[in-house]
Amino acid sequence: MDRPILANRAAAPDEIYGERYVRPYAALYIDHPMWEPKLQCNVAMLSRLLQPLGIWLDTCCGQGWHLAQFPSHRRMGIDMSAAQLEQARLQNPGVPFIEADITDYEVPEEQRFDLVSNFWSAYSYLNDEDAIRKLVEKLVRWTAPGGALYLELTVPELLEEFNDSEFAAETGAKVSLQSPDGVHWNYRDAGGVHRMMSPQIEFFTDIIAPHFAGTNHSMVVRAIRQLVAWGKQPD
Ligand SMILES: C[S@@+](CC[C@H](N)C(=O)[O-])C[C@H]1O[C@@H](n2cnc3c(N)ncnc32)[C@H](O)[C@@H]1O
Repeated sequence: MDRPILANRAAAPDEIYGERYVRPYAALYIDHPMWEPKLQCNVAMLSRLLQPLGIWLDTCCGQGWHLAQFPSHRRMGIDMSAAQLEQARLQNPGVPFIEADITDYEVPEEQRFDLVSNFWSAYSYLNDEDAIRKLVEKLVRWTAPGGALYLELTVPELLEEFNDSEFAAETGAKVSLQSPDGVHWNYRDAGGVHRMMSPQIEFFTDIIAPHFAGTNHSMVVRAIRQLVAWGKQPD
C-alpha cells in the first residue's frame, strides 16, 4: 500500500515510485511527445552499442521501456520500485529483474555486463555527491572489458529553463533550484516533490574517462545529456 505523499515535502524515491505513480510516470515521461527525440536518440545509440555487445544491464530501469525496445538481446534490469518493476516484467517477458537499492546491491565478482546504462538522471535521487561517485564507480566496475557505459545526465546549468517549457505549462511540473548552480534541485510533479542532486558533467567524466578508450556526449533535449563511454579497459 502506498504511503500518502505530502504535496510540499520532498519524498524519498521509494515513496514516490509506488503504485499510484505508475500510470502518471508513463504518461509524463514515456508516452509524452516532449521526450520522443531523446527516446529515439537513446534507441539509435543503444542499437549501435548493442551491435557487437552481449549482455546489457539497465540500472534504475523503472518500467523497462528501453529494455523493451531490444527484445532479442540478453538483458537485465535493476530498480528499487516493486511497482515500476511489475510493469517492466510485463513489458519484458523472460528478462531477469532485480528489486534492490542500487547503492547496496553488488553483482557477483564473475558477472560483468557488456553494456551498463542509467537513464533519466536516476542517479540524481541519491542526492549526495559521495553516493553518486560510488554509484558511478560501481557502474564502471560492472562494465566488462571492451564494454560500454551509457548515462543520461541532467545538465544543472540549464535546469531552470525547464519551467518555461510547454511541458511544464501543460503538466504543472516545476523545477526549484536549491543551489544557484542547479546542482541541487527539487522537482515537483504528479509523484510529489523529488529531491535531486545533479553534478556537472566533469564530475562524471573524471571518474569514467580513465577506464575507457573514449567518451562522448550530446544533447537532443534541453537539460538532458547523453554520455557514452566505450572500450572499457581491463581492470
Ligand atoms: C526517473 S526514473 C527513470 C526510470 C527509467 N530509467 C526510465 O528511463 O524511464 C528513476 C528510477 O530510479 C529508481 N531509483 C531511484 N533510486 C534508486 C536506488 N537507490 N536504487 C534503485 N533504483 C532507484 C526509481 O525507482 C525509478 O524507477
